[in-house]
Amino acid sequence: GLPEYVKIVEVGPRDGLQNEKVIVPTDIKIEFINQLSQTGLSVIEVTSFVSSKWVPQMADHTEVMKGIHQYPGVRYPVLTPNLQGFHRAVAAGATEISVFGAASESFSKRNINCSIEESMEKFEEVVKSARHMNIPARGYVSCALGCPYEGNITPQKVTEVSKKLYGMGCYEISLGDTTGVGTPGSMKRMLESVMKEIPSSALAVHCHDTYGQALANILTALQMGINVVDSAVSGLGGCPYAKGASGNVATEDLIYMLNGLGLNTGVNLYKVMEAGDFICKAVNKTTNSKVAQASFNA
Ligand code: HMG
Ligand code: MG
Repeated sequence: GLPEYVKIVEVGPRDGLQNEKVIVPTDIKIEFINQLSQTGLSVIEVTSFVSSKWVPQMADHTEVMKGIHQYPGVRYPVLTPNLQGFHRAVAAGATEISVFGAASESFSKRNINCSIEESMEKFEEVVKSARHMNIPARGYVSCALGCPYEGNITPQKVTEVSKKLYGMGCYEISLGDTTGVGTPGSMKRMLESVMKEIPSSALAVHCHDTYGQALANILTALQMGINVVDSAVSGLGGCPYAKGASGNVATEDLIYMLNGLGLNTGVNLYKVMEAGDFICKAVNKTTNSKVAQASFNA
């Protein structure tokens, strides 16, 4: 059956803004995150401590991390691909981090410039250091339902990478449909395999909506016992190293569906729509959230 409570991990400030063509001014990012903090969201992914040569949109990671108001009851994880990023994140005040691997060799190479095996060695160092400092670490597995370069990815490969991340101490594994190619069918097959090795309570799904399947895929995951879902306000997002990838599932649309199912999220839909309206106006784009479009046109 469906879970009673669903934890939403808001990734808009990171996954959303990393892919915007214009570089969003730091003070706008800070205001955006502060608004999101007052919606009832309990986790907001803030930025990435990656190379500014690779992702210039996240070059102000330290200023953003130091500039936001950290509200009680809200956690503010950041992406850290290696020890260098981890140390910078901690120096900037991060108290929760994510490492990000992939189930595809080609994607790993293009995204973080190393093989899956090399990435696991780096993540192991990061997660070990995090553990010594009592910093919770989350692990992403990109290309969980397909790869922009390799096409099909087997559930076995996703399971193998997830198991490594879980084994090294990641408390939660976020299974990413990076390019949104998955369907409820492939989601079910992938989860059936991963759930043989990792308890569903330690799994999350991270769906992009490129093919319009995100909500269906998420519902499939919920029905299988997953109760953590990543989303981005206004459906912002995409990965610069995944050609053709469009935005994450919109947080507004996710909340609307969960509300309709009678599932508790603790998040105020109206306040999330306001934060979405703020960031869309700031980056001069129209929202990708169907719910926001319908509500603002009503
Ligand atoms: P590299 O070039 O292999 O790194 O990049 P290196 O260790 O060889 O070092 C080269 C230079 O980078 C050096 O500087 C280092 O200091 C610097 P130089 O001496 O040339 O001046 N460097 C760093 N600078 C800042 N922060 C760091 C860092 N590490 C090294 N942490 C690296 C490797 C991982 C850094 C690079 O490939 C990179 O930054 N990649 C960006 C990846 C990224 O952010 N991708 C998007 C996020 S993943 C995603 O969106 C998917 C997800 O949403 C889930 C899904 O949808 O599936 C999570
Ligand atoms: Mg993503």
